[in-house]
Amino acid sequence: MKRYLVIGNPIEHSLSPRLHNYWFKENNIEAVYEKKQVKETEIKEIISEMKNGKIEGINVTVPFKKSVIPFLDESESRTTQSVNTVYKKKNRIIGTNTDILGFKYALQHIKYSVKEKKIFILGAGGVTSSIIFALEQMQASNIMLSNRTKEKAENLKKLFPKLELIKWGDIKNFDMIINTTSLGLKESDKIPINYDYIGPGKFFYDVIYNPKKTNFLSEAEKLGHQIENGQMMFAYQAQKAFEMWTGLLPPVNKKVIELLDND
Ligand code: ATR
Repeated sequence: MKRYLVIGNPIEHSLSPRLHNYWFKENNIEAVYEKKQVKETEIKEIISEMKNGKIEGINVTVPFKKSVIPFLDESESRTTQSVNTVYKKKNRIIGTNTDILGFKYALQHIKYSVKEKKIFILGAGGVTSSIIFALEQMQASNIMLSNRTKEKAENLKKLFPKLELIKWGDIKNFDMIINTTSLGLKESDKIPINYDYIGPGKFFYDVIYNPKKTNFLSEAEKLGHQIENGQMMFAYQAQKAFEMWTGLLPPVNKKVIELLDND
């Protein structure tokens, strides 16, 4: 029986096992996908278990997307420095990033084009570099970023020199605003932005998908803005990871969305 893992901390809320185990079953693959809460000191051992064939593939989530990289034989995520999927090729352990495609496909799914749009990003966490990378590829005209801790925003600017850094709490004119912070995971979380300073008809995107509608999104919806959560991004990054491991591209269909909704 092949074994797959998602590692992170915390990890109990991850829906990756549900999705991948469903796809394994659908494709008659004898495999099991589990979640494991780990400490940074345990990552080395887990990667060596992949090397010796005990684990077939790994997804990596917060807060290890960057810190996993030194333990790999190779990383395909040079620009983003963020690995969310680890796979094996000719006994080499390779880290890659499927969040970028996940975000792109999620926007394609709702037919939203960022081309020539002004984008305002909140946060500088594990997934932010993937979002910026995707936005640059999709030719957003201007990417602004604001993070509570200035240093982390400045580190991202080293990777993406065209980023425009904005002071935390300030707001600039934008077409689309993206929450990549963890604010919203708790129902009581509120992002300190003043909606009065935001013109009509904007697009609010939250990477968070559980809860489905963060305060960030529900406030925006009340004001008539378009909103979208991170559910499809999650589904599409998982789809791409599944393909890296098995060579099969499972459909992201109604049944998959039902599985993710059913919480
Ligand atoms: P990591 O930073 O370990 O990758 P993450 O969950 O991916 O973890 O990212 C957390 C993001 O949410 C960061 O941008 C963080 O801001 P800081 O860099 O200032 O820590 C942001 N965040 C979390 N709690 C926050 C809060 N109470 N107010 C503002 N931003 C917050």
